[in-house]
Amino acid sequence: MIDRATVDQILDTADIVDVVSDFVSLRRRGANWVGLCPFHNDRNPSFYVSRSKGICKCFSCGKGGSPVNFIMEHEQLSYYEALKYLANKYHIEIHERELTDDERSQQTEREAMLMLNEWVCQFFEAQLHTQSGEEIGGAYLAERGFSEATIKKFRLGYSPEDRTALYTAAVRQGFNRELLFKLGLCKDDGHGGGYDFFRGRVMFPIFNVAGKVIAFGGRTLKNDPAKYFNSPDSLVYSKRESTMYGLFQAKREIAKQNKCYIVEGYADVISMHQAGFENVIASSGTALTEGHIHLIHRFTQNVTEMFDGDDAGVHAALRGVDMLLAQGLNIKVLLLPPEDDPDSFARKHNTTEIEQYIEQNEEDFIRFKTHVLLNGAENDPIKRAAAIGEVVKSIAVIPDAITRSVYAKECSGRFGIEEETLLREIQKHLDKNREERYKQRERERRRKEAGLPAVDPQNEQQPESQPEPQQPEPQQPVAPVNGEPVTAAFSSRRLRQERNVVYYIVKFGMCYLCETEYDDGVKRPTTVVEFVYNEMEGRGLAFSAPTHEKIFRKAIDALAAYYADLETFKADAQDQADKQCEAELEKIDTLGHSPDSLQKAEADVRARLDVAVMKKIADFSTNYLEKRLCSDPDDDVRTTALEMVGERYQLSKIHSQYGSVVGERDRLTTLLPEALDNWVNAIYEEQIKQVQKQLKQVADPDQQQRLLQELQDLFAQRSQIAKLIGERVVNPN
Ligand code: CTP
Ligand code: MN
Repeated sequence: MIDRATVDQILDTADIVDVVSDFVSLRRRGANWVGLCPFHNDRNPSFYVSRSKGICKCFSCGKGGSPVNFIMEHEQLSYYEALKYLANKYHIEIHERELTDDERSQQTEREAMLMLNEWVCQFFEAQLHTQSGEEIGGAYLAERGFSEATIKKFRLGYSPEDRTALYTAAVRQGFNRELLFKLGLCKDDGHGGGYDFFRGRVMFPIFNVAGKVIAFGGRTLKNDPAKYFNSPDSLVYSKRESTMYGLFQAKREIAKQNKCYIVEGYADVISMHQAGFENVIASSGTALTEGHIHLIHRFTQNVTEMFDGDDAGVHAALRGVDMLLAQGLNIKVLLLPPEDDPDSFARKHNTTEIEQYIEQNEEDFIRFKTHVLLNGAENDPIKRAAAIGEVVKSIAVIPDAITRSVYAKECSGRFGIEEETLLREIQKHLDKNREERYKQRERERRRKEAGLPAVDPQNEQQPESQPEPQQPEPQQPVAPVNGEPVTAAFSSRRLRQERNVVYYIVKFGMCYLCETEYDDGVKRPTTVVEFVYNEMEGRGLAFSAPTHEKIFRKAIDALAAYYADLETFKADAQDQADKQCEAELEKIDTLGHSPDSLQKAEADVRARLDVAVMKKIADFSTNYLEKRLCSDPDDDVRTTALEMVGERYQLSKIHSQYGSVVGERDRLTTLLPEALDNWVNAIYEEQIKQVQKQLKQVADPDQQQRLLQELQDLFAQRSQIAKLIGERVVNPN
């Protein structure tokens, strides 16, 4: 377990922009950062990151949250794992005790698999430094020209010839043999033991975007017809979805250059990186899938397919083109000389030569298609027509209309064909594609109705993103008001008002609200949480939704730490301000003012810095609770807090800049008492309704009398509140 101080340190250090940037390439937009949402197939950037709020959110699919949430969701980690991830990222030390057997078995299978894969990766790496490993595996890698640094960077390794080397070592280490089987690392020998699947192969670990080992490729050193063995799909690895080979090592460079190269094989990626081209990744033998493209799209829109110049390479490139175009990527193709693949090419040439080759041979898809299809028959009218037809077909799959028309224009110029004609042809394809999609959807629908599984999710149209269906409000037992328990289900109006109060706690819990005279006769500054607490005590209120209660408790519990932290923060802020003040005053001195104007200038500086300090403290207080609640270990608390922050976050997108945020904080002295009154009012109204209902149901005159009395009391109480709220009782909500 991680202690509270460390958790705080992690949360204070983690910068949302920084954390998200490891996975999504972000651009600045106003006060926010935006990028393509990593949680759904996003074609236009809908993923917003606010550094000042410390949260991210997708306006299309709704996912996002604090740094912890983001990592939990993106890396599919547990809360504590996500914290550990962040601690690791920011080099924050965590003191942890060894896991007990019980806890070890409790870890999810996924976590256990990742742990095992990591250990196995280290095992294979270490084998390269044993005598036989060096002689066989090491020699092979050296012969292929991979440097020590490259071997380290891609964590290449060697799986020994010994049938059970890995199996024995892993089991001795305490790893579960079933996991070894599930990950495809070992096979069951049927006698209670196992043997190694990859034995005698050079090992290429496959990483997910975050750098976790999720699978392996193993290349034979012999004349085995199965040149590569690959891990099977598992809980942690999907060949079609999880990753692209090299993406972890390439992602920064891809984002930086805003461009990536796709090659076919492991060796291609590695040799290109070694040659200084670090924005290179591979589909590793499979055809590109939508999942792959989605991954790439997070980092760049610009992709160049870099394939062997032979027939197979050309065909693979052609297949990829339409796929990439359809996903809204800008696609180019670079064919290598027929005798080369990127690996051999990169080893034959130096960096400058490669750069030159790229510059001279990279073609946009129109040129590539025409070039391949005409192939020397430029003047053959039939071939020309066919080539144009192919290019038009490709243009028609581009989702964006503007991009389509740009290419149409380009194509028109190149072939000397009227743009109008091309556009008409494109339109025909568009209509046809739409019809196909419609038919496809209809087929799917019928299959679904018949209770059959979907055919191929890859070819399925992404459903348009729809707003989440409204969750029905949970029916909770009603809490007592003025000590009177009420048992019937409460109205959603009441819950809404209650939630509104909680909203102010989450958003502004530690903000200074007013001075309060306490029982001991001393006046003390009161925060929002304390104010709510006092009011609730005084009026006998309690939260009915358990999550609201939890948030409230957590806020109260955080008060002591807040006041302590506040002292430190104040002292630091004041210190800084003093230093700055001195520096500024020194400057004034040298300007030779009159004593009077000097005094005034000094006072101005001090006043300005005082205001700055006050604002800093206010910001500190505003963020204090929100930040902690949004990263709370309790799922309900975290989710609700994030929702509440998100509401306003959305608002601030609409109102832009800082308007609504500061506005709300400044009006707390009105807004909060109003919220409390509205809550109480909603409770009375609900109770009145309930008593009225009961009244209709009872026949006994005594009981009727009692209920009538109750009703009268309630009316009286409500009108008291009504006086407080004034006109606002009729407030629609
Ligand atoms: N591949 C595979 N299984 C095979 C052959 C190939 O998974 N039996 C995948 C590997 O990811 C390989 C890629 O397809 O890297 C490209 O195949 P190929 O061009 O045949 O291999 P190279 O990368 O050229 O391998 P090497 O240079 O090691 O011969
Ligand atoms: Mn090769």
